[in-house]
Amino acid sequence: ERPMIVDRQGRRFRNLRISLTAACNYACTYCVPDGKRLVAAQDELSAEAMVRGVAYLIEAAGIERLRITGGEPLVSPKLDPFLREVSKLGLEDISLTSNGQLLSRKLPLLLDCGIRRLNISLDTLDADEFRGIARGGDLATVLKGLEEARAAGLKIKVNMVPLRGKNLDQVLPLLDYCLENGFELRFIELMRMGHLARDPNAFHQQFVGLEELLALIRPHHEFVQAAAPLDATALRYRVPGAGHFGVIANESVPFCRTCSRLRLSSTGWLHGCLSSSNRHYVGDLLEKPRHQALPALQRLLVKALADKQDLAFSGGVTVMKIIGG
Ligand code: GTP
Ligand code: 5AD
Repeated sequence: ERPMIVDRQGRRFRNLRISLTAACNYACTYCVPDGKRLVAAQDELSAEAMVRGVAYLIEAAGIERLRITGGEPLVSPKLDPFLREVSKLGLEDISLTSNGQLLSRKLPLLLDCGIRRLNISLDTLDADEFRGIARGGDLATVLKGLEEARAAGLKIKVNMVPLRGKNLDQVLPLLDYCLENGFELRFIELMRMGHLARDPNAFHQQFVGLEELLALIRPHHEFVQAAAPLDATALRYRVPGAGHFGVIANESVPFCRTCSRLRLSSTGWLHGCLSSSNRHYVGDLLEKPRHQALPALQRLLVKALADKQDLAFSGGVTVMKIIGG
């Protein structure tokens, strides 16, 4: 029987994003302004606890789709044991968000574990600019990984964060590159995360919004709005005869109303909303047997769902149905 925890807007958790590790082999300017690479936290969950977390959340919340993120998931030694076990849980879809630096090396593992979709971050096709933004890794290595993943038949989206004064000259080259290769490029509006949440000036200086972006593309490509899943992050556009691109318009067109995402951090915290500072610790529950963990998890999931930004109403979760323990 399918568990359902639904709020007044009809939202429920369907997609789980799990951060395998906080560590990253890049130090992107918009993520870590001091240029210091993020490292794994002391108290990160083991691969086994994470697999249990996914299994419990499938049962407790009806999770159907999993996205593995970081940090950078491909740097983590947990990737192999996690993927091998989690791929046996019967999920509809397991995908991965990565900067692609280790893609070439990890591709056999990903294919082995049934990964069919990848989202790869790529902010520029200019090698110097790449070094200036990512501050780690090497562009040619990413492009090689992308080519191999494409040849292996993976469905690939490329994520680009347009930044004023940095990579706006790359909007068209990246779009052309992606259309030519059958990748769906998504432009991500800069989000007020980390230091950008504390420094509005830095945010506004670099922010490029949906309309400005479309205006940059319009003289070069014809495009029309296309259908997207109801709970998608991106607005989708079709370039007739060439492919699709998308815009994740976090600021211009917030999509909280249909958000179905739940996050589990690498240190065991559940987040019902990316924009809320509320979080719920479950690391201890993942060490408990199923019959003890599930009811406790469901109580936390009700709270986590209530953390989602509520554009139409003022909060209030209605639990429609909960499975027994
Ligand atoms: P698919 O739709 O499965 O391809 O994945 P996705 O777009 O959810 O995943 P991806 O990891 O590629 O995320 C791209 C960007 O979407 C992130 O960098 C965020 O900017 C944005 N995003 C993802 N989840 C959320 C969310 O819950 N809230 C907000 N505001 N933005 C999100
Ligand atoms: N705003 C928008 N996108 C961001 N990303 C990381 N930090 C930010 C931010 N502040 C992007 C990465 C990656 C995706 C998962 O999130 O570039 O593509």
